[in-house]
Amino acid sequence: MEQTQILVLNGPNLGVLGRRQPEIYGRHTLQDLPDLVREVMGEAAERIRLVIYQTNSEGGLIDRLERALEEGIHGVVLNAGAYTHTSLALADCLAWIGIPCVEVHLTNVWAREETLRHKSMIAPQCAGVISGFGLWGYAYAVQAVDRLLLWP
Ligand code: DQA
Repeated sequence: MEQTQILVLNGPNLGVLGRRQPEIYGRHTLQDLPDLVREVMGEAAERIRLVIYQTNSEGGLIDRLERALEEGIHGVVLNAGAYTHTSLALADCLAWIGIPCVEVHLTNVWAREETLRHKSMIAPQCAGVISGFGLWGYAYAVQAVDRLLLWP
C-alpha cells in the first residue's frame, strides 16, 4: 500500500507543547498526534505517514519545505506559530512550492489580539485554515489534506 506522506511542520515555541502555557495551548504534546489522527480517521490513518518536524527558526521552516519537495511529500499541515503573522518569506515559499497545505492553529487566533494575530501572511497560500481546536485541529487538518489529495 502506497502511503500518503504528510509533513506536520511546526514553527517557534511549538516544540514545548504541553509545557507552554497549557491553559492557552493545551496539555497535548506533538508526540500525541498519531493517536489523535487514528481517532479521527480510523482505518484510513493507516494510509498516512506523518512526518512531524519542529524548528524555532524562520529559515528552518523554509528549508524543511524545500526538503519536503525533494522527498516527494504529498501534503503539509503547517503551524508557523508567530511567523504566521509576519513571514513574507514563508508565504513566498508556499507560493511556489506547490504542495497542498492546510494552516493550523491550536488557539482561535481571531479570538485573540487583533493587531497581532488576526493577520495571516500564509493563509492566502493555503487551502484553508483550522484554528481553535487544540491538537485535535491538527488531526482534522491531516484529514483535510488527505481529502484534498484524494479529491483535489
Ligand atoms: C499559534 C498562534 C500564534 O499567534 C502564536 O504565535 C503561536 C501559536 C497557535 O497555534 O495558536 O505560537 O500558532
